[in-house]
Amino acid sequence: MPDDGEARLVHVGSLASLAEEGRRLVKVGRKQIVLFHGDKGVFACNNRCPHEGFPLMEGSLAEGCVLTCNWHNWKFDLDSGETLVGGDSLRRYPVQLRGDEIWLDVADPPPAARAAKALDSLRDSFRRHEYDRMAREISRLQRSGADPLDALRGAIGWTHDRLEFGTTHAHAAAPDWLALRAGLAPEAPAALVPLVEVVGNLAWDTLREPAYPYAEGRAAYEPEALVEAIEQEDEARAVALLRGALAEGLAFSDLERPLATAALAHYQDFGHALIYVYKTGQLIDRLGPTVAEPLLLALLRSLVYASREDLIPEFRAYGGALADWDGKGRRPVEAADLTGLAVPQALARTLESSADTRALFDALLGAAAWQQLHFDLERQDRSEQPISQNVGWLDFTHAITFGNAVHVLCDRYPELWPSGLLQMACFLGRNARFVDPELDVEGWAVADPAAFFEAAFAGLLDHGAPEYIVSCHLVKLLTAVREEVAAAPEAAWVPSLLAATRRFLESPLKRKHSLRTAHQAAAFTAIED
Ligand code: FES
Repeated sequence: MPDDGEARLVHVGSLASLAEEGRRLVKVGRKQIVLFHGDKGVFACNNRCPHEGFPLMEGSLAEGCVLTCNWHNWKFDLDSGETLVGGDSLRRYPVQLRGDEIWLDVADPPPAARAAKALDSLRDSFRRHEYDRMAREISRLQRSGADPLDALRGAIGWTHDRLEFGTTHAHAAAPDWLALRAGLAPEAPAALVPLVEVVGNLAWDTLREPAYPYAEGRAAYEPEALVEAIEQEDEARAVALLRGALAEGLAFSDLERPLATAALAHYQDFGHALIYVYKTGQLIDRLGPTVAEPLLLALLRSLVYASREDLIPEFRAYGGALADWDGKGRRPVEAADLTGLAVPQALARTLESSADTRALFDALLGAAAWQQLHFDLERQDRSEQPISQNVGWLDFTHAITFGNAVHVLCDRYPELWPSGLLQMACFLGRNARFVDPELDVEGWAVADPAAFFEAAFAGLLDHGAPEYIVSCHLVKLLTAVREEVAAAPEAAWVPSLLAATRRFLESPLKRKHSLRTAHQAAAFTAIED
C-alpha cells in the first residue's frame, strides 16, 4: 500500500448505476468502502463506523451528506468530514467523476499525517474522558508506524499545567505500567492497556480543569536554593531555579538529590512526595528528555503543595527524633519490635538501632508488611467514628511503596537515611492502631513467589477497578514488592510481604463510605457554630 500520499485511483462503477442504487459497498484490498449518492454529490467513506465498527452501509443519509450510524446515532458530515455527533473521525475517500465513471483515491495518508491525526483526536477525547476512544486512537497511532509512547509524551505535555497541585498517581504509576508493557509483545492488544491506563488517568485528573500556568523566568540554579524555595512553598522561585537548571543542560539525575532532600524534609503527603521523586526519574528514563520539563514542573508543584504531617500533633515527635539521630544506636532490632508502637515510641525505638541502617530498614519494612498482613478489615467498614480514625488498605500499601522509595533513594543519597527511616517509623506508628495481631493469616502464605508475581501482574491487565487510584496502587505496590524481594530474596520479611500483598489483592477494598461521610459531616457541623 503506498504511504507517500500519492494518489491511487480505482474505478468503482458508473454514476448512473450508483444513482439507481443510492449506495454501494466496494472492496479494495482489505478496505471496505461505502459509496453514497446524495443530493450534494457522491461521497465515499469507510464502511466501518469509527466508533465500534458497525457497517455504515446500513446508516441513514439526510440533508444530502449527513450520515447517521444507527447503532449509537453518531453523525458524520460526508462533505466536510466533521463528526457532528460522536468522537472519532470517519475516513473518507476523495471521489473523481470522469464522465459517468466514478474513481476513488484510496491512497492512505502519509504516516506522519496519520500519527498527527491520531494524537489530535486523542487529545480531543480528553474533553469527556472517553476511555474506549483513547484505546482506539492509541491503536491508530501505533498502526501509523509511530511510537505509541508518543501518546504518553503528548498527554504529559497537554496536562502538566492543568494539575492544580502538581504530580499525581498518574505520573507515579506510569513507569510501573510501562515496565509491565515492556514484557508484552508490542503489537498484542494487551500492550495497549498500560498506555490507555496512564493516558486515561491523566485525562481524568485534568477533566474540566482550567490551566494553572507555571511562572516564567529563570534564576541561576543552586541546589540549596531549590530546596529552600520548596521549603518556603515558593513555587515561582522553585520553577525559576528549575528553568535555570534545564537551561544549563542539567538532567533529572542532576536534580534528584535536592528533590529527594526536599521530599524528605518533612514527613509529608503521606509518603507521596518521595515516591513521586523516585517515579518521576524513572518515567523520564522511559520516555526521554522531552518530558523532563513538564514532569519536573509538576513534581515541583507537588512538593511545594505537600502537606507537612510532621507539624501536626500526631507526628510532631518526628522533628525531635531526627535532631536526636546520631547513628550510634546499636540495639538489635527486628520487625516484631516495631509493629505495635505508637508514633513517639516507634521513633524512639528506631533511634535505638540507628547504627545499622540496613538492619533498621529490614525491620521497618518487615513491620510494615506485618501490619498490612494484619490489617483489621472491620476498620474499613466502620461508619460511626471520627475522621482521624479513617483507615483503608491504601494507608498500608503506601507504607510499602514509600519504603521502596526510601530504599532506592537513600541508597543513592545516604545522608537521607535518617529522614527516610524515621518516616517509615511514622507510618508504623500511625497504622499500629488498625491491626489485629490475633488474625489468622496462615492462609495468605505465598508458596511460589515467581508464579504469584506472574499471575498478579497478568491480572493487572484486566484489573476491573473503576478508580484510577486503585489500579495505580495495584501496579505500584506490586512493582515495589517485586523490586524489594528481588533486592533481598533471603530477607526475613519476604514471606510476610508476599502474604500481605496477596491478602491486599484478594480482599475487599471499600472506597466509598456513604454512611461514614454522613455521620462525620453531621458530627462535625453540629459543633462548628
Ligand atoms: S458503531 Fe456507529 S455509532 Fe456506534
